[in-house]
Amino acid sequence: MKVLNLHGKQSPSKISWEQILAGLEDGVITADRDGKVSYFNEAAEMLTELSESQAIQKPVIQLFKREHWLIELVKKSQPPRQESTRGEGELVTRWGHKVPVSLTVSPLQDRHGNFLGSILVLRDLKHRKVLEEDLKRADRLAMVGTLAAGLAHEIRNPLGGIKGAAQLLKRSLDRDSSLLEFANIMIREVDRVDKLIEQLLDLSRPTKLDLAPVNIHEVLDDVLLLETQAANELSITVKKRFDPSLPPIRGDRAQLTQVFLNLVKNAFQAMNGGGALTVTTRVETDFHIRGQGSDRSRLIWVDIEDEGVGIKEEDLPHIFSPFFTTKNSGTGLGLAVCYRIVKEHGGLIRVESVEGKGTTFRISLVVAN
Ligand SMILES: Nc1ncnc2c1ncn2[C@@H]1O[C@H](COP(=O)(O)OP(=O)(O)O)[C@@H](O)[C@H]1O
Ligand SMILES: [Mg+2]
Repeated sequence: MKVLNLHGKQSPSKISWEQILAGLEDGVITADRDGKVSYFNEAAEMLTELSESQAIQKPVIQLFKREHWLIELVKKSQPPRQESTRGEGELVTRWGHKVPVSLTVSPLQDRHGNFLGSILVLRDLKHRKVLEEDLKRADRLAMVGTLAAGLAHEIRNPLGGIKGAAQLLKRSLDRDSSLLEFANIMIREVDRVDKLIEQLLDLSRPTKLDLAPVNIHEVLDDVLLLETQAANELSITVKKRFDPSLPPIRGDRAQLTQVFLNLVKNAFQAMNGGGALTVTTRVETDFHIRGQGSDRSRLIWVDIEDEGVGIKEEDLPHIFSPFFTTKNSGTGLGLAVCYRIVKEHGGLIRVESVEGKGTTFRISLVVAN
């Protein structure tokens, strides 16, 4: 067995190549001279959703028959070219999930340059894609924010004028005039626009976070208390699955209350036929996700799960965009605000939804230290 000695000659810890390959985050697959799989590590199993025993001895061409781009790269590593190549593409797993991956294929050669087979290194790009999406979204939000701030000021002044005029008009009308209702509508609608602008300004204002250790369970309890009446009216049951060992997080309590209030309101609005709202908290254990933050901080997650109408697949990419709404009286600002606040906290916000079944929003926050 080949042995890698990581600590110099005297070190007692000897780690085999097999152990190293098995422990890698990247999928490692080797194929022999005939293009049949001879090694398939654990990460490769996870990526492809195939077990090692299902893969070993199978021709690579057969295993990846849907991934023409991958086969092309493997062929280049074989004689006569025997080249190292790199590419990106989509992998369709055994259960039909599509995973974006990067792939490096190199020929394996003996000392004399004879071809022994190919080695494939696969890397899951899902995390990177998600990060790229986040960046794009943040850009869009910043742009909208600047635009909104400028526009809001311009609109507010004439709006004040309209409201004042409508109030004067109302006062000069007889108490039983049928025109009174029109004046009321004017005032009401002006108020509505004003509120909208207020929300818009909220979105564009660079907020100063008032950071302190926050017990997120208290925040969630507050939000659920505020929404008790709504829950009763809609026959919604609320289930709390709180992890009692959850550490306090670093955050701005008022802003976080806003986030969870928006999410719970959305969940309730999606369940006008009743159902259950489940609020779950837990500590992140997955190293991949923990490692993503710049300082590898510990994270917690809060899941807000409803049994509502769900979100159409084609709507999913847009729900965090300002003004995207599918509701008649919606503003489309709730989730944009949530997104901004969570981002400013160094957290993540994710969504999973099945139309007709329900939606889960997952929010991660950084543990206070
Ligand atoms: N829990 C949910 N269930 C179903 N759809 C949702 C949920 N939360 C958000 N959405 C969708 O995302 C859109 C944007 O939400 P939001 O930004 O809060 O704006 P608004 O609630 O004013 O429409 C909603 O109009 C709805 O289509
Ligand atoms: Mg909303």
